Amino acid sequence: NLDAGPRGCPQSPRRSAPLAMAARSLLLIRGGCVVNDDSSQEADVLVEDGVVQAVGRHVLPPGDAPAGLRVLDAAGKLVLPGGIDTHTHMQFPFMGSRSVDDFHLGTKAALAGGTTMIMDFAIPHKGHSLIEAFDTWRSWADPQVCCDYSLHVAVTWWSDQVKEEMKILTQDKGVNSFKMFMAYKDVYMVRDVELYEAFSRCKEIGAIAQVHAENGDLVAEGAKKMLALGITGPEGHELSRPEAVEAEATLRAVTIASAVNCPLYVVHVMSKSAAKVVADARRDGKVVYGEPIAAGLGTDGTHHWDREWLHAAHHVMGPPLRPDPSTPDFLMNLLANDDLTTTGSDNCTFNSCQKALGKDDFTKIPNGVNGVEDRMSIIWEKGVHSGKMDENRFVAVTSTNAAKIFNLYPRKGRIAVGSDADIVIWDPKATRTISAKTHHQAVNFNIFEGMVCHGVPVVTISRGKVVYEAGVFSVSAGDGKFIPRKPFAEYIYKRIKQQDQITSVESSDSPSLGKLSSIRTSESLGVHETCIPTPVKREPYKGEVITLTSKE
Ligand code: URP
Ligand code: ZN
Ligand code: ZN
Ligand code: ZN
Repeated sequence: NLDAGPRGCPQSPRRSAPLAMAARSLLLIRGGCVVNDDSSQEADVLVEDGVVQAVGRHVLPPGDAPAGLRVLDAAGKLVLPGGIDTHTHMQFPFMGSRSVDDFHLGTKAALAGGTTMIMDFAIPHKGHSLIEAFDTWRSWADPQVCCDYSLHVAVTWWSDQVKEEMKILTQDKGVNSFKMFMAYKDVYMVRDVELYEAFSRCKEIGAIAQVHAENGDLVAEGAKKMLALGITGPEGHELSRPEAVEAEATLRAVTIASAVNCPLYVVHVMSKSAAKVVADARRDGKVVYGEPIAAGLGTDGTHHWDREWLHAAHHVMGPPLRPDPSTPDFLMNLLANDDLTTTGSDNCTFNSCQKALGKDDFTKIPNGVNGVEDRMSIIWEKGVHSGKMDENRFVAVTSTNAAKIFNLYPRKGRIAVGSDADIVIWDPKATRTISAKTHHQAVNFNIFEGMVCHGVPVVTISRGKVVYEAGVFSVSAGDGKFIPRKPFAEYIYKRIKQQDQITSVESSDSPSLGKLSSIRTSESLGVHETCIPTPVKREPYKGEVITLTSKE
């Protein structure tokens, strides 16, 4: 009758309030192993009206079977917080086309894979309002979504209006993350000064800065070079933007974020060298997070060299999947040891006829791959089944860490009293074979085709309702809701504030020496980089000064 608490301490069953007598929706998940990021326990979970009411043994008094109670047997199964996919692009108008997984089918597919929340991106064109883009994306998503969702907003240009709108989005619209593109030159790309401004603004308003880290100028030059060499096929995509192009931009973003002590989130980390940059920054004490995606963890870029053009084209995304076949394992190891933190899918799918826009020129192939449905299974197979991580780390990287970084925790990302009942009953022993023939997505190709994965979501519960069970959906468009997020997430901003405090104290208590000397002597450009430098006190120079002529 005892319930192991978060730190393993025995506790009585936790319950928020006596069950109301009025008509209610009641669900009991019985006999499973409840897995959170910090503990696993044999426990029942009682859900009422979309919220977890109790976790423990005998959560209902003996003989108490209230009317309307539905019991799900989870014996031998794991009971997990629903997945949070930090990165999707449903019905995204992009590269002359529009991604085919819309908010309806895309979120249904998410549920089938055990994901109960997606985070999509509202992306304005240069010169356009961020708030208008946000409203547009909401008008697409709100009536269509089958699971809960949030929106990141992209900053694709800079002005006083953008600066003001970032504040409004954060204070009034539930946005606490902004993505800046360092690639897609002339379309979405911003320059270093704009990154500096945007990062500074994120810091002021308590948001997290996200970057698509690739050097857009080098991407453009690389593409010209490949086309000039007669390489027009999908292999040219990777050849034109190799690892160094991603790693350089990642380091530049880390450096700029560090200059203003803004928390940074690197989306779709695709290469070993970019992942190492993130890992090094974290070891230097910087508040930086890296997000590998299902594609990068589950497959590789050797497919770009496939003889069949369409097969190769379906693997084109940016930054590219890497041809080094040891990359997925490497990224998974870093994810297991916390060098990398969250996982998304970057689900941005195009059918074959859309990919064919680039049949004679790889730069015209719409960028994007699938992953929203298969992310959880891929990570279970390659992460847990392979022995790299345990089930708690699985929950951390598929759900909890995202909830903490984006300020949704513990409403999302945890099974505990008061949390949203977004829950997956997961069979770790069952297997399924991934295929475009059987997946629930709109797209006609699957980059994981034929892969056999252990770890199958047998029941998915969203907002306390069984929405997917044994292959059958019980969900309608609009059942999901927009989830607003508050700024200054404790998980990231506590450390930022602490660092700011320390550096301001350090710079104010230095005597005549001047702060620069302490920067020079510090071992690395870590937190000291943000110290406010003070001038060296010295006698004014009284000697001769040459006079400049206009020519000089
Ligand atoms: O290829 C990709 N990643 N397509 C979606 C847009 C982006 O850069 O995330
Ligand atoms: Zn991107
Ligand atoms: Zn292939
Ligand atoms: Zn993306």
